[in-house]
Amino acid sequence: MVGRVKGGKSWHERHKRDHGVKKAKQQNYRNRAAIKLLEIDAKFKLLKPNSFVIELGAAPGGWSQVIAPKVKALVACDLLDMKPVEDTCFIQGDFTDETVQAQMLDTFTNPVTLICSDMAPNMTGIKIADQENMRLLLESVIAFSDQHLCQNGSLLFKCFESPDIQQTIKTMSPKFSKIHRYKPPTSRQESTEFYLIALKKK
Ligand SMILES: C[S@@+](CC[C@H](N)C(=O)[O-])C[C@H]1O[C@@H](n2cnc3c(N)ncnc32)[C@H](O)[C@@H]1O
Repeated sequence: MVGRVKGGKSWHERHKRDHGVKKAKQQNYRNRAAIKLLEIDAKFKLLKPNSFVIELGAAPGGWSQVIAPKVKALVACDLLDMKPVEDTCFIQGDFTDETVQAQMLDTFTNPVTLICSDMAPNMTGIKIADQENMRLLLESVIAFSDQHLCQNGSLLFKCFESPDIQQTIKTMSPKFSKIHRYKPPTSRQESTEFYLIALKKK
């Protein structure tokens, strides 16, 4: 039976009833991811009028819709194309590609004050491969932040529970004043997704 778990509702039925989906629709956001970012920002106050922001894994654009009106400048990138979002410079490409990174940085005259990543690799269903692909993505986000995030800048990124994640947090700890782990209320309980918020790069 496609899209239906035994004894349960289909994905479409659950999606329609989903609180985050309803809220996103009411507030004219493209997806429930926007609501998760609003929840994160309500707690950690990352988006500021003087922020220069790089957003990774932006399509279809829910986060960009939240970020762009609140900050000074936003450059977003994704492997997939996305419909334009007002005040967002969008670059289609693989973030791990250095030429894409250079293109993003070229659009800013100011230092990057915030990096937000909601990137997730294409899931294969093979747990060990998915965890490894996510680990590689996170490593490239952290390396990018090491090089290009300004002092006192912040980094927000999505993670999935995995055996490596504690090590990732440990590696990042000396580089930031504070690291928080947060699962926004709109993140599905059954998902192992959570977010790391690293504040004030040293
Ligand atoms: C969960 S979606 C992001 C949703 C987005 N935050 C929003 O609010 O609409 C994850 C995105 O990460 C992107 N992605 C995965 N690997 C990437 C990479 N190497 N470079 C750029 N984008 C990537 C995928 O194409 C996908 O669109």
